[in-house]
Amino acid sequence: MLQPTKLANNNFLSSLDLSTDEVLNILEIANNFKNKKISINLKNKVLGLIFDKSSTRTRVSFQVAMTRLGGTTIDLNPSTSQIGRGEPLKDTARVLSRYCDVLAIRTFNHSDLEEYAKWCSKPVINALTDSEHPCQALADFMTIKEEFSNFKNLILTFVGDGNNVANSLILCGALLGVEVRIACPIGYEPKGSIIRKALEIYENRNLLKVTNDPYSAVLGANVLYTDVWSSMGEENKKETKDKMFKGFTIDSNLVSKADKDAIVLHCLPAYRSKEITDEVIESEKSRIFEQAENRMHVQQALLACMLS
Ligand code: CP
Ligand code: NVA
Repeated sequence: MLQPTKLANNNFLSSLDLSTDEVLNILEIANNFKNKKISINLKNKVLGLIFDKSSTRTRVSFQVAMTRLGGTTIDLNPSTSQIGRGEPLKDTARVLSRYCDVLAIRTFNHSDLEEYAKWCSKPVINALTDSEHPCQALADFMTIKEEFSNFKNLILTFVGDGNNVANSLILCGALLGVEVRIACPIGYEPKGSIIRKALEIYENRNLLKVTNDPYSAVLGANVLYTDVWSSMGEENKKETKDKMFKGFTIDSNLVSKADKDAIVLHCLPAYRSKEITDEVIESEKSRIFEQAENRMHVQQALLACMLS
């Protein structure tokens, strides 16, 4: 049975839109979908996908999730809609919410997502902004729970850019009481506002650590995680960031410093030999493709909670 959640007919713009219990509830529902223990019928419901940036996993996992629930999707991007022509977000939002039952939006500025949500009369889901990727974090913690059964005494070390994916890991990690260590070059730390929000949630504030030393950060870690050094929209920063992030590659040597049963995650897409080596992605410690699969189960759980 689905328990009522705050998500019913509400937005999911940030991990902070959920309580700890709601995160755990969604992970359980996602697990039930994965194990085919529940079936929900969203016949005649329509999910609108507005993607201002490229996507493989998020777009397809939402499309398949909605199809499996009996609903349908429409896929919009700036080049095939009037969004690219500059139609105001508030107009697009009001029109699409008269056609669709829920919208998943991937865009650049988080404030644009909030603007969509302000004008939409239907729930809006964050499918990634420059600030957060909350659906990804749910799939990540689902994968971690599958491996370790619970979140007690776990250490997750993120090595890389203190960007959207790291931000969502911090916020969701805070909700779940997981120790999160971020190791990044000087100047690439997560935003102060994210750290402050996480510290307000953590019962033990010592569980969040930001360092510039990947080696000390991975000592004893149960989960090593990385993401691209240059995100979508940062193509012109690639050369500088490749230099700045030297020494922050998750390679076999770094993995060997973590707990002996540690697993490795990456949200994908990856640049092999930059933030992570080919050897580590293909190693027995990698749960990267289980993690990608879990995107779909989490998306099903989210849609079910929002629409049924
Ligand atoms: N991890 C993730 O969001 O991948 P896509 O960019 O392919 O959606
Ligand atoms: N930080 C990456 C995540 C991709 C899923 C980006 O924003 O491009």
